[in-house]
Amino acid sequence: MKGVILAGGLGTRLSPLTRVTNKHLLPVYDKPMIYYPIQCLVNAGIEEIMIVTGGNDAGDFLRLLGNGSGFGLQDLHYTYQEGEGGIADALRLAEHFADGGKIVVVLGDNIIENNIRRPVEEFLAQDGGAKCLLKEVTDPERFGVAEVRDGRIVQIEEKPSKPKSNLAVIGVYMFDHQVFEIIHDQKPSARGELEITDVNNAYIKRGQMTYDILDGWWTDAGTFKSLDRAWRLVAQDGANKLDEPDGSKRHVDKGLDDHA
Ligand code: G1P
Repeated sequence: MKGVILAGGLGTRLSPLTRVTNKHLLPVYDKPMIYYPIQCLVNAGIEEIMIVTGGNDAGDFLRLLGNGSGFGLQDLHYTYQEGEGGIADALRLAEHFADGGKIVVVLGDNIIENNIRRPVEEFLAQDGGAKCLLKEVTDPERFGVAEVRDGRIVQIEEKPSKPKSNLAVIGVYMFDHQVFEIIHDQKPSARGELEITDVNNAYIKRGQMTYDILDGWWTDAGTFKSLDRAWRLVAQDGANKLDEPDGSKRHVDKGLDDHA
């Protein structure tokens, strides 16, 4: 399965830090933010990765990441999002890369404590459709929020003022080939963007969405508060830990220290 990391947008919630650089190049403890989603995919066994970026500093991704050899990858694929069309608009650009296969999509500002290999493998075994990952949070109104009934997600609401649960939909989504047809038929939301939540709701309507509850911590890093939280969690625990045969977790940054 291929992986897509969405790292475009203007990052206005982090202005002025993002006035001269892309949000995903900002530091989170000892690494640029974009390192974490890449490592997350690599640790889950994904070897072909495309980064969708945008804005004025796209060239910096190439200078920072090169061909991905620092992560043990053979190469990295890049594409460029013109303008500010939203998460689903950015994902649309990965259609050729996906080439009709299943994909796992990670938002470039999401950082996860543990390895997501198990849900990724479950999705590979699943007969098409989509899968998302949920995490209990204390501030669900900041996220897409899932309403779960009888073991199924019945609806996801984007940043609801009165959340129906405390289950946030984290920025890791697994889709089959239908995702691009869904995006092509999508209409922009009130804020003028193609919303990933609408894509997920289309799969829910088709009865093809499964979910898993994430184990370990998760945070986004797109606001000052969450960036601060991400920094502290990574400094304290490390991110994207690998499972050991004895059930313990080990933090490994494959080759990152060697990356020039
Ligand atoms: C996006 C999604 C939201 C999701 C969140 C996870 O929100 O729209 O559904 O819960 O990512 O990080 P954003 O933070 O880009 O506004």
